[in-house]
Amino acid sequence: MNIRFGADYYPEHWDEKRLETDAKLMHDMGIDVVRMAEFSWSKLEPEKGIFQFDWLDNAINTLAKYNIRVVLGTPSAAPPAWIIEEIPDLLPLDSQGRVRGFGGRHHNCQSNIAYKEHIKRLVSKMAHHYKDNPNVIGWQIDNELGNSHNDLCHCKSCREHFQKWLQYKYKTIEQLNKEWGTNFWSQTYDKFEQIPTPMITPTSHNPSLLLDWKRFHSDLIVEFQQFQIDILREICPHQFITHNLMGFFNLIDYFDLADNLDFVSHDQYPMGFYDDPQPIKEPSALAADLDLMRSLKNQTFWIMEQQAGPSGWEILGRTPKPGQLALWAAQSIAHGADTVVFFRWRTCAYGTEEYWHGILPHSGIPGRRYYELQKFIQEIVPHMENFKNSLPESEVAILYSYEQSWAFEIQPHHPELNYINQIRKYYKGLYNQNIPVDFISGNNNFEKYKLVIAPLQFLVSDKLVESLTEYVEQGGILVLTMRSGVKEMNNQCHIEADLPGKLTGLVGATITDYDCLRDHDMGIRYKDTDYRCEKWCDILKPEKAESISKYTEDFYAGQPAITVNKSGKGLVYYIGTEPEQKLIDDFLADIVNESGIERIYDTPAEVEFVRRRTKDADYIFALNHTGKTQIINCKDNWKSIINNEKLEPYGYALFMAER
Ligand code: GLA
Ligand code: ZN
Repeated sequence: MNIRFGADYYPEHWDEKRLETDAKLMHDMGIDVVRMAEFSWSKLEPEKGIFQFDWLDNAINTLAKYNIRVVLGTPSAAPPAWIIEEIPDLLPLDSQGRVRGFGGRHHNCQSNIAYKEHIKRLVSKMAHHYKDNPNVIGWQIDNELGNSHNDLCHCKSCREHFQKWLQYKYKTIEQLNKEWGTNFWSQTYDKFEQIPTPMITPTSHNPSLLLDWKRFHSDLIVEFQQFQIDILREICPHQFITHNLMGFFNLIDYFDLADNLDFVSHDQYPMGFYDDPQPIKEPSALAADLDLMRSLKNQTFWIMEQQAGPSGWEILGRTPKPGQLALWAAQSIAHGADTVVFFRWRTCAYGTEEYWHGILPHSGIPGRRYYELQKFIQEIVPHMENFKNSLPESEVAILYSYEQSWAFEIQPHHPELNYINQIRKYYKGLYNQNIPVDFISGNNNFEKYKLVIAPLQFLVSDKLVESLTEYVEQGGILVLTMRSGVKEMNNQCHIEADLPGKLTGLVGATITDYDCLRDHDMGIRYKDTDYRCEKWCDILKPEKAESISKYTEDFYAGQPAITVNKSGKGLVYYIGTEPEQKLIDDFLADIVNESGIERIYDTPAEVEFVRRRTKDADYIFALNHTGKTQIINCKDNWKSIINNEKLEPYGYALFMAER
């Protein structure tokens, strides 16, 4: 059975009499799956050991009559009040020593051992109850792990877990002292029991402690998920297990979190969240989120929550324009989602999310959003089987590392320097040229890519140097940028050589000076054109490399800003600054032209082109993210499948090209 479209459904929020109406409306719209129960612990187990599954059974049975299957969430993101009463120290403690109380969700410390017993009891019970139910096809563990856990948790249990984690990593306290440089400010520890979590201090913490804390925290959450995966795999090995991730959210190393899942799911909210300063994310940022999700396992994925209406809690965003909900869903599919589940089915009348709009409004009467999505589902479903499981086949990869992002959060250098934003800028340079991109971690093989862009390689291991060198030796093109080779993996500065440290051989130049551009930007000339750059300038001295761009201002006017080095059969570019977007675009366009990297569509325009490549054909999506009609010129071998060369405002088209 093919599962293509779904809705996040909360039957417990409505009178049971409504079930049948909902199931029928869903069926008529083309929905074949719902996700349920991820927050309904108090309804499933109102008292310890007293289980109440009949309401959920009833919902599953009713939906089954309409051929709608079910993914069940394990409700560990919302422990009920009776659990908090039993284990009050489950409530997490923030870095200022304040307890985060009951009344929202995710009010759970992730290391609490007593809580695991509760999870085990309920999850095992649910697993036994549903393991042979043919209508329950899989499980989602918890919900958006790490969400709301940013500054948490500093309780006694977490501190002890951190100390054990450190002991396992460093073996002896002497080793830890050395790796952290605790000699500085008399921070030397005599035993692991003395080590704090990074709670508020009069000044900043040791950067090596902070980086290990972030690594520990990521591992802790991965382990929290694994605990539930193990229970489910044992009891119901025939149902899939997934989790809903959040794009570039970076509290957890998502490569690790994805590892033991059958597939990744992602929550896509193009209008962002109510407190985002920018009401709509840029289309290229949305595309990057989706490409990262596909890249985690290099496989197609689900959208477990796709925006279905205006969103917000206390404050609302704009209402999606006609066509936009379908466009965003099409974008998700174009980047590799084989199933799209909309959040949520019906807008809830109570609770924190009263204004986070679903497909249906509060009244439950189908309106614009229902009919737009119904039309979209009906037009695209017949074609989805043709490109199921297919990937874009990218010639370019961006190296994305959680450890780098954490290290820059700890020491951003410039107040606005943000690792993820720089990743997004380089991504956008490729997106603007309709070039498919994969994200890779340092553990992937680089060989299959013509071009690897590795921004901000701040922490450098010998292993990374080895893989990059091998890649370049064999003909790969590598782009490195500013602040690379600065640090060892323990977050201490590299001292063996001038910057870029271990990468100097590859770069073929050294950095003789640098300048953090606190209150101004900087002129930079590339191929006779003047551009601006910002935040940071590395001043380069080429040894073997050649300078291809110069700064134009200040005492280093005329000195190299970008270099290129021939190394083995390949090339290494080093960009010593954060260039404005136009320079990134032009610079990458030159590399793309010189190396013969294929663009899906040639003319840069306000239309996004994405492909799913099968053995026999390319399925090409054209996505118009603007409010204007856009006319495109198909390549000769493109055949229209859905819509055509005239793209309506917020419209899309699907083409097929035989290979
Ligand atoms: C997240 C959660 C959902 C819901 C939506 C809207 O993505 O997973 O449960 O809260 O946001 O706020
Ligand atoms: Zn804790």
